[in-house]
Amino acid sequence: MKKIGMIVGSLREHSYNRMIAQTIPELGLSEASFELISIADLPLYNGDLDREEGPAAVEVYREAIRRADGILIVSPEYNSGTPGVLKNALDWASTPTRTAALIHKPAGIVGATPGPKGTILSQQQIRQTLEAAQAWVLPFQKMYISQVMDKVDAEQGRLTDETTLKYLRRYVESLLGWIDQSRSLK
Ligand SMILES: Cc1cc2nc3c(=O)[nH]c(=O)nc-3n(C[C@H](O)[C@H](O)[C@H](O)COP(=O)(O)O)c2cc1C
Repeated sequence: MKKIGMIVGSLREHSYNRMIAQTIPELGLSEASFELISIADLPLYNGDLDREEGPAAVEVYREAIRRADGILIVSPEYNSGTPGVLKNALDWASTPTRTAALIHKPAGIVGATPGPKGTILSQQQIRQTLEAAQAWVLPFQKMYISQVMDKVDAEQGRLTDETTLKYLRRYVESLLGWIDQSRSLK
């Protein structure tokens, strides 16, 4: 059983990206378990706080990443880039230099927007940040969700569009396969 830690790049209660993440454990992928890793309580990154006995919320967050076999980022795009809250969270997981939680961690990226372009630009930046942190980002495959408001049941907080569900399932399956493949990269 592979453990996937999901990080949502939006703190909004009714976030579309959270709805996508909440749907993933219900895709029927029996070989995996899923955990939402909260970034809501992380302080702003400050090197002065980044000591052995750092902020408790940072320790909880880093430990959740460490125990996951792979990380799945589910994030919106803000001003053609990575939302600040997510960048902050990824920075906290990129230190200490030699033992950071993201080092050699297989990772995937999914993003949803009410707009037409599916978070292409933020995903490029998220990929760049993950690679700088030495995570192993699933190559080649991308998962962009545009016009998301037409593809969810907002009351239930779930993705309902059949085609998108099919592609999302395929993407998560690829991430699970990538976890096996990336073992040979070590
Ligand atoms: C500050 C800000 C900047 C935004 N910039 C973009 C953008 O560049 N591209 C885009 O597709 N949507 C943009 N949006 C719209 C978001 O995609 C939309 O608010 C979305 O619902 C946020 O994701 P969430 O529902 O998961 O919170 C922006 C929203 C905010 C608040």
